Amino acid sequence: MRSVVSFNETWSFHEGFEPRLLEAFDGRTTVSLPHNAVELPFNYFDETSYQRAFTYQKLLRWMPEFEGREVSFVFDAAMADAVVYLNGEEIIAHKDGYTPFEARFTDKLVKGDNLITVRIDGSENPEIPPFGGAIDYLTYAGIYRDVWLKVTDPVSIRNLKIETSDVLDEEKTASVRVTLSNPANLTFLGSVYASLTDATGGVIATATAETTREDVTLTFDRLTDIALWDITDPALYEITVELKTSYGSDRLSSRFGFRTAEFTPSGFLLNGRPLKLRGLNRHQSFPYVGYAAGRSAQERDAEIMKSVLKCNIVRTSHYPQSKWFLDRCDEIGLLVFEEIPGWQHIGGEEWQQESIRNVRRMIERDWNHPSIIIWGVRINESQDSHDFYAETNRLARELDITRQTGGVRYITDSEMLEDVYTMNDFILGNEELPGVNRPRTPLRPQEESTGLQHKVPYMITEFGGHMYPTKIYDQEARQAEHVRRHLEVLNAAYGDPDISGAIGWCMFDYNTHKDFGSGDRICYHGVMDIFREPKFAAYVYASQCDPSDEVVMKPVTFWARGERNIGGVLPLIVLTNCDEVELVCGSVAKRVGPDYENFPHLPHPPVVFDHRHFTADELGSWGMMWIDGSFTGYIGGEPVTRMRMVADPLPTTLEVVADATTLKARDRDSTRVIIRALDQEGHRLPFLNDSVTLRVEGPAKIVGPVSVPLQGGTAGFWLEATGLRGDITVEVSSSRFAPVRLQVSAG
Ligand code: GAL
Repeated sequence: MRSVVSFNETWSFHEGFEPRLLEAFDGRTTVSLPHNAVELPFNYFDETSYQRAFTYQKLLRWMPEFEGREVSFVFDAAMADAVVYLNGEEIIAHKDGYTPFEARFTDKLVKGDNLITVRIDGSENPEIPPFGGAIDYLTYAGIYRDVWLKVTDPVSIRNLKIETSDVLDEEKTASVRVTLSNPANLTFLGSVYASLTDATGGVIATATAETTREDVTLTFDRLTDIALWDITDPALYEITVELKTSYGSDRLSSRFGFRTAEFTPSGFLLNGRPLKLRGLNRHQSFPYVGYAAGRSAQERDAEIMKSVLKCNIVRTSHYPQSKWFLDRCDEIGLLVFEEIPGWQHIGGEEWQQESIRNVRRMIERDWNHPSIIIWGVRINESQDSHDFYAETNRLARELDITRQTGGVRYITDSEMLEDVYTMNDFILGNEELPGVNRPRTPLRPQEESTGLQHKVPYMITEFGGHMYPTKIYDQEARQAEHVRRHLEVLNAAYGDPDISGAIGWCMFDYNTHKDFGSGDRICYHGVMDIFREPKFAAYVYASQCDPSDEVVMKPVTFWARGERNIGGVLPLIVLTNCDEVELVCGSVAKRVGPDYENFPHLPHPPVVFDHRHFTADELGSWGMMWIDGSFTGYIGGEPVTRMRMVADPLPTTLEVVADATTLKARDRDSTRVIIRALDQEGHRLPFLNDSVTLRVEGPAKIVGPVSVPLQGGTAGFWLEATGLRGDITVEVSSSRFAPVRLQVSAG
């Protein structure tokens, strides 16, 4: 039987790499994984600080159960160019920073202490994707995902590939291809037993087979009463495979779902039904710790995408992301576009071979996730490269015939080797460029992008972003334009039935290289800030949900007389899924329905108050008294939500909210905490840039600095458990508010 245990604790960490490190374990700098080799400030830093070599070491003491068995370390990922040594001998090298690898120690372990040394090199080695050109994100060095000690019998299960068919019929079929691992090349007779269970663990079907080979497929057919995996009801099933050979046994499970996903020239179909894909791109980075955020932070990002932003798809731009993130997407019904590492640049022959290997690693790691509906097998936004992309597509189809391929480009007339033409369309805003004689256009016509005369499966994979960077504390008028652009593109995507969907750039602001962003090493491209706090544009997405899910009403205003040029708050966009919104301001009351004129295709167009509804005098002008405004949202003629915006906002509450109030003491579990300075009516004070100081009592620590400024009236941090159980108090103090205490417990 296998045992797989976390091996994240007590690694010795050193800068640089010298042979003498191979000899001595000096536990002076002890770290636990996931680990970021160099912690970065919030912004304005030198990103070359982590672009060098680091060494991690750990002692593995011989255990009697290793005798005669397979022993290895599984690295979920390390950035980058990792080399693993056992007692000074090189065991494996793995260049890619985003995919797992296994270091096999069998037969090489001594009966005593074994020294495991991992050298990683964070430099941007042009031999390895995504490096070789400029890239608009950071690739933080470190063993930034989990490491596992895996012990199995000599013949074990290597991987499972689950496929479903007849999914939309009464009687469905599932099959599992079991590949075995037999590194010692033993001759064996194996019996394989597979069971299919539902989410409650109830056994639905079983199958058996005998095998002498390293690959065997078992099929479950005529399955009835099976629930489909859908975005609203993501029913998961599990197949567990048990192997018995004369050398021992093994057991491995994988979850999966019954669903079909198909991009067609007339749109995307999930389980045969049209679904407009609406989503955002996600980087896997976090402030200060870069990529090295653990399981709960990864899971929480998926939850935010689904339950705060109400998206139905995420693109893992621009590389395979954490399995914890993908598992959560499966559980909550969030579709995924996953792609190989890369950014605009295509390297030489060896680089391309590595990229082709990345296709294999990504697909073999992730092929059972029902949430993943398409493989991205091009280097994001690269030029055409016939042989290279013919091969990535061929391999993807060979490995997984159940999913279509895409390849993200921004060039038009690009060679369509993929099943879906996936396009980053940044046409909106181009009208501002000198010499461009084109009126404001949200999206290019499909034929203009593809250069083809006929329709093909087509999806927008990026828009927005650098065309209109917007900070959470930017002027109201700029934020309103940011909102308008996201609205316009989504509206255009909804309006064209041939477009499968649109994925905006991007979910949250991210740290980047000096060649991008606002000079401070941040691209302010998110609809949320770097702590995942919503900007106004976040509500463009959120307000598209059905009101039965959540009633959304977000006026895009700070409600002030003089924040905008010339003054006033018109035109005032209210992002909402209500039928009508009433704005009462003094003695004037206006009730207005969605703006079908400008946004006819959105499920929920915004309500826009402007000159059509208010005369020049009705809200007053510069020099006149500014007064409160109150908004009421109506559905079916009934008021369903209300909010007031005050004319004299004052700091009233310092809100401190954690995503979770209990932490697991172990595994460096963490929760995000958001601080907001609020006025009398609970609205964020957008220009309250006071500093706050954080103090923790109990078994936890703040990730990042303990003294931070509010930006746009908000700040965030992650609180991480340090190992012991107990009560944790975080005290947040500032000059404008009484101290606030947040209680969390670690258990
Ligand atoms: C795209 C690119 C993204 C990001 C974005 C900013 O060209 O694919 O990674 O840089 O631009 O808008």
